[in-house]
Amino acid sequence: MKRSQLFRRLKARLPLRAQFLLEVCDYWRHLCRYNASIATDRDILKMQYTLLRENHIIEKGMSMRNTRRGFGQQKVAALVERLRRYNLLYGAVDKDFLFYPLSTIKSYIAYQRRDGIVVPAVESAFFQLCREANIIPTELSAPAGVQLMTADHLFKEALGDFSSLLYSRHSLRYFQQQLPSKDLLNKALTLASRTPSACNRQAWHTHIFFGDDAHELLRMQGGCNGFCEDIHCCIVVTADMKGFLAHEPFQCFIDGGLYAQNLINALHYVGLGSIPLSCGFMSDHLQDIKSRFHIPDNEVMIVIIGTGIMTDEIKVAISTRRPVTATNKYH
Ligand SMILES: Cc1cc2nc3c(=O)[nH]c(=O)nc-3n(C[C@H](O)[C@H](O)[C@H](O)COP(=O)(O)O)c2cc1C
Repeated sequence: MKRSQLFRRLKARLPLRAQFLLEVCDYWRHLCRYNASIATDRDILKMQYTLLRENHIIEKGMSMRNTRRGFGQQKVAALVERLRRYNLLYGAVDKDFLFYPLSTIKSYIAYQRRDGIVVPAVESAFFQLCREANIIPTELSAPAGVQLMTADHLFKEALGDFSSLLYSRHSLRYFQQQLPSKDLLNKALTLASRTPSACNRQAWHTHIFFGDDAHELLRMQGGCNGFCEDIHCCIVVTADMKGFLAHEPFQCFIDGGLYAQNLINALHYVGLGSIPLSCGFMSDHLQDIKSRFHIPDNEVMIVIIGTGIMTDEIKVAISTRRPVTATNKYH
């Protein structure tokens, strides 16, 4: 008998609580090996993912209702430095990766110029990186930065076919002060309840907060610095751990995630804007949020969805997607 088979048999004889401990140890081992904060630049994928994140911080900055004049210069300079390092380490392996962040930086420079701000340090670092990577700045044509949209256009597209629903959904970072009606929210929640779930257990829950409560929740969430006060309704999507058995310890995150995405699309369909906001935090931070907002201990937080009535005109981050060839593998 193979060692792995023997281990599995022995494990199955342990009490469930001990099996859970082994499960946690296995997750710990994966975290230590694959978490992007550990030995980041020694792994091309960890480096790419973290660069995409830093790139997004720049486009997200441009998509807020009110941006501070000249915002983000240090962050952009730091991004350029890391991109230079990427080019040195991995430029020969995957140079195309540079196009999207470089396009974002180019559009950041143009954004600042439109605002009457010149960022010479960023500009010269950008041109130097282009020279080092042998990329001609005028040929950086990938869509990047932000785009101005109208609520009318988004309403219309959301009611089109499935593809126009998906292509017209964007994360919006500011909404009208007026709150969305419970009728509209209930319509979206009802649509989202069509989400498939493991053995149809539907172990998802939602907790909806408005006004000051929503703002406080967003301040605690921490990922919307600069626009917490521009989102006046938050839906916390949770999944109930009580719905799952010993052989499926992580299923609550999967079912909850599927539900959350359907809810986001449903909100768009009923004419509301939305933004998913992360709950992927360390447990002590989540515990603080759960205690303050009376979310039961047995529910795991999946995501907070900021939602609301769209303003007539909206700036959205373009958030270019990677090509399907980079994320798919036919086996
Ligand atoms: C799980 C999750 C967590 C997110 N957390 C944040 C966040 O904390 N702050 C933020 O501004 N955007 C957040 N976003 C929005 C993403 O930045 C956005 O979905 C991504 O850039 C793609 O853009 P799009 O939604 O406009 O297509 C989050 C999205 C997801 C799916």
